[in-house]
Amino acid sequence: MGKIKTDLYLGDCLEILANFDADSFDLIITSPPYADRRSKTYGGIRPDEYVNWFMPRAEEFLRVLKPSGTFILNIKEQAVEGERHTYVIELILEMKKQGWLWTEEFVWHKKNCYPGKWPNRFRDAWERCLQFNKSRKFNMYQEEVMVPMGDWAEKRLKNLSETDQNRDTSKVGSGFGKNVSNWLDRKMAYPTNVLHLATETGNRKHSAVFPKALPEWFIKLFTKENDWVLDPFAGAGTTCQIAQTLFRNSTGIEILPQYYQLAQENTKPTQYLLFEETQDETHYTTRDH
Ligand SMILES: C[S@@+](CC[C@H](N)C(=O)[O-])C[C@H]1O[C@@H](n2cnc3c(N)ncnc32)[C@H](O)[C@@H]1O
Repeated sequence: MGKIKTDLYLGDCLEILANFDADSFDLIITSPPYADRRSKTYGGIRPDEYVNWFMPRAEEFLRVLKPSGTFILNIKEQAVEGERHTYVIELILEMKKQGWLWTEEFVWHKKNCYPGKWPNRFRDAWERCLQFNKSRKFNMYQEEVMVPMGDWAEKRLKNLSETDQNRDTSKVGSGFGKNVSNWLDRKMAYPTNVLHLATETGNRKHSAVFPKALPEWFIKLFTKENDWVLDPFAGAGTTCQIAQTLFRNSTGIEILPQYYQLAQENTKPTQYLLFEETQDETHYTTRDH
């Protein structure tokens, strides 16, 4: 019988993580408090102070992440006095100096963003999910997030160019190439780095929760069952909740008692897995603690 743990802590992640061993987590996924924006609900940090506030915490994340692990940081700079603030860009540069590799940037397209009109910009319908790693060789299970090919192949097949039929080496010298004809008979394709997900704040008792599908997608992509996931700014505990349903161990840290309690309500401390071996595969059934 396997055991899946969910450990929640009340406090500042900077202090709580100091008690953790180095190289403990396979994935860190989090959405920190955004600069100033939600100061009414949980004490935002001023945009100009954001990098200085974040960096000591990033140092702890770097220490507790396994060399094979990944850090996904969901963040978006807001506009201040009519222009986009640059603290996210500055944060990326500082984190690189700290030793992180900035491996990728995913875009979370918020399918249901509020209607509205601003004098000098349109509705903000996307956020960054920055991917950082400690090493160039990190665990990634791309097959776990494949998407149906749809009718792409049929449409494309009609118009196959000569380059599509042979391997087409990147013209920008990236060393990557594609052979489109390889994909024509496939039912599933690898996804893009754009996630189209609706926000889910209604009835979740926290104003900035992840849509459940967001941690789900990254947990599937970067971990396997029994791995350890950390959300150092846990809020309502969405990451831990999803980690649990996917049979991953998780740690969540939340500074405000009301959200810590909410995260407790949303998760179970332990989940037991009963392994049922059949001829072909192992099935898991769960039993609550
Ligand atoms: C954007 S919310 C995270 C929401 C979360 N993704 C969810 O799905 O519920 C950020 C959370 O970080 C918490 N927080 C702020 N500073 C913190 C700190 N230093 N340590 C731990 N939690 C902190 C806030 O109280 C807030 O609940």
